[in-house]
Amino acid sequence: MSAARKDHKVLFTPGPTEVAPEILREMARPVIGHRGAEMQEVIRDLVPRLRLLFGTRAGDIFLTACSATGLWEAALRNCVARRALVPVCGAFSERFYEVALACGLEADPLHVEWGKAVPPQAVADMLATGRYDAVALVHNETATGVTNPLSEIAEVVRRQGDVALLVDAVSSLGGIPVECVVRFGDPAKEILRDAEAFGADLIALSTKTSSSLSRAVLGSVAEQVFRKAAPAVVLYRTAREGAG
Ligand SMILES: Cc1ncc(COP(=O)(O)O)c(C=O)c1O
Repeated sequence: MSAARKDHKVLFTPGPTEVAPEILREMARPVIGHRGAEMQEVIRDLVPRLRLLFGTRAGDIFLTACSATGLWEAALRNCVARRALVPVCGAFSERFYEVALACGLEADPLHVEWGKAVPPQAVADMLATGRYDAVALVHNETATGVTNPLSEIAEVVRRQGDVALLVDAVSSLGGIPVECVVRFGDPAKEILRDAEAFGADLIALSTKTSSSLSRAVLGSVAEQVFRKAAPAVVLYRTAREGAG
């Protein structure tokens, strides 16, 4: 590779981003045919690794060469039959909404003050009207740097039933690897359900049972998870319990 240009300025923006020299080197190689065996090999190699990045074992991965805006259009045109709800909390989510209108779709914005995250309850309230069959959400609003609470919003959408959730993860995927979720209900059941949904290989729990009497009567969450979990379970005993 030729020496770096003298006027090269290192980019620290969310996008366009600084491109590593090894990627630039790869991109300088001659193109390959997009219908040939060589391309099939590239896709075979890519898909399992993208599954890891997307956190899905079985979900289909579709590769396209278009911009994110093109995928907004594809997602909206294919998934919205009645009306889309688009939480708008910055420049990109505003454009997502405008693209829905430009596609000739019925859509409503859910305006949120720029710099603030989309409240899941506001989405739930709008969905309760029964008017929508899709929610188009920008996970990380690059314009303001605000990350929306995707798992809580996904939970709200899932509860509504037949509503698609179209997520723009342009500036979040790969950069926000861990989703923190809050669940309500039976703790052991919720942990087991999430572990299965994520395809977890290991569940780490701390035991914090307050007294041996309540543990005898109710059983501990850790014990229930330990007995029923498919993946390996690691239990950490808290200092308090160890002392008790
Ligand atoms: C969150 C988000 N969505 C969509 C886009 C638009 O991407 P593209 O220019 O590839 O259409 C961007 C671009 O920075 C973005 O940050």
